[in-house]
Amino acid sequence: MTIVVVGSSNFDFAARVAKLPTPGQTVSSQGYKTGPGGKGCNQALAVRRLGVSPVFVSKVGDDMLGNQLIETLAAEGLETNHLIVADEAQTGIALISIDETGENMITVVGGANMTMTRADLHEKQDLLRDCDYMLLQLECPVVAIDCAIKYAREGTATVILDPAPVADLIVMRDLLAHTHIVTPNQSECLALTGIDPVDEATARAASIKLHEMGPKTVIIKMGCAGAFYSSNGQTGIVAGFAVDTVDTVGAGDCFNAGLAVALHGGQSINDAVRFACATGALSTTNNGAADAAPRLEDVLTLLETGAA
Ligand code: RIB
Repeated sequence: MTIVVVGSSNFDFAARVAKLPTPGQTVSSQGYKTGPGGKGCNQALAVRRLGVSPVFVSKVGDDMLGNQLIETLAAEGLETNHLIVADEAQTGIALISIDETGENMITVVGGANMTMTRADLHEKQDLLRDCDYMLLQLECPVVAIDCAIKYAREGTATVILDPAPVADLIVMRDLLAHTHIVTPNQSECLALTGIDPVDEATARAASIKLHEMGPKTVIIKMGCAGAFYSSNGQTGIVAGFAVDTVDTVGAGDCFNAGLAVALHGGQSINDAVRFACATGALSTTNNGAADAAPRLEDVLTLLETGAA
């Protein structure tokens, strides 16, 4: 029983600013924090902290930042033997600004992530076919993501696609046609459906459009308002958890990790979305992306007591 994560690894540089800059503006910061990031890496590390050892397929450069990422992941107990070191590309980085409210702006330099090829995944095809859940995002080339989905569907895996960042709509339609579970946040949902899911009624309307594109399960992440789900005729909204938020950068990734771990553990869709909401919410109480991923015992406490 495995969870496979195929996706990006970045080295994140995050600076706190009073206000996010507007175009052409320069703002200053008192300091910055570095750490593991990239949507794939964040999801993989969060899965690990929730007690499941995922297979993580990703690419880094043959450079200092790549080595540091590999060391950090290994120290967390994440198996790094499926990380591929690219010959001629730098490790991906993300330049992040976070304001006083926890809102952020991110510039990603994809680097080695954008060199992932079908040939890379061909080498891992047995793992990709044999897994139970496959977590994907869109910070690697679409041909690679498409290929990962193909292998997953040749086997028995449930494909969970985080449509982040949203690609061209024609590409998105192709990917969604073969996706089992799609998990957009509100802005991704708006980009995919034209509907801004601000409440249950609008989320339901958007979910109908997303179902028409292929996924049997649609989960819309609504930030502190929680999440809406629609799966095999069952729909519902799970309320968000009230926590002291300092940084939301890794929240969406931690949500998806929580979802996969809970479904992998046999939880119902409602319980799995609640577990995912708790995982995402807790990640916002710490600084960093992958670094902020919560541990299983803290998620269970939040679920039980409603307090972090
Ligand atoms: O989803 C958050 C992630 O987006 C950050 O860790 C950053 O690396 C970017 O990929």
